[in-house]
Amino acid sequence: MKLHINIDHIATLRQARGTRYPDPVWAAAIAELAGADGITVHLREDRRHIQDRDVELLRKTVRTVLNLEMAATEEMVAIARRLRPDIVTLVPEKRAERTTEGGLDLEGRRSSIGRSVEELSGAGIPVSLFIDPTVEAVRVAHELHAPRIELHTGYYCDAATGDQFGELDRLAAASREGRSRGLHVAAGHGLDYPNVVPVAALEGITELNIGHAVIARAVFVGIDRAVRDMAALVGKA
Ligand code: PXP
Repeated sequence: MKLHINIDHIATLRQARGTRYPDPVWAAAIAELAGADGITVHLREDRRHIQDRDVELLRKTVRTVLNLEMAATEEMVAIARRLRPDIVTLVPEKRAERTTEGGLDLEGRRSSIGRSVEELSGAGIPVSLFIDPTVEAVRVAHELHAPRIELHTGYYCDAATGDQFGELDRLAAASREGRSRGLHVAAGHGLDYPNVVPVAALEGITELNIGHAVIARAVFVGIDRAVRDMAALVGKA
């Protein structure tokens, strides 16, 4: 299981005061030294946390895998084609949301997502689609020629205890569908130390993207320890 650490929150803290610190580039290096297999950042259209400068520097400094989350827009596709992250994950974006709220609306935005996948794939950049954990969404992602999917784990994380098994079953079915179609299957959103192990144990899921819980713990114990604690849990599954 690969563990990718999302470091957006480091930039959120910096932007809160308009200072030059804390620098997400430093955070990425510490996370990598602690065993992260990849670094994920979301360059939002409103630049509320990660800035263009961050992605540019991270492209030069990240030694594992740089995963750029972004909306399927012309502006973002042009940035990705210029900076060449190792993976692009297309995510839905709404200005008023606090964080990414649901998976991509693959049917409603079929043409813009399909075009972005084509343009990024044409430039040799592997594209992942962040989707709800349904067999139908996996089927459409495959139809759009995305080689990768990331299953939205937020429904599992938000479910009441009794409903979590049902949500795990949905994730398992979507993961199986993805694998049977030859897709690389990742998962993420809302994963935390107490709830990560059952997801990490699901067959077919080979990569987790985790941000909020790790950076929140890092405030108290440091990034190194927070990443190592999560890596130990994920490895255990
Ligand atoms: N995966 C995707 C596609 C996301 O948009 C996010 C949040 O930026 C995450 C994973 C990480 O979610 P969290 O911060 O809740 O761990």
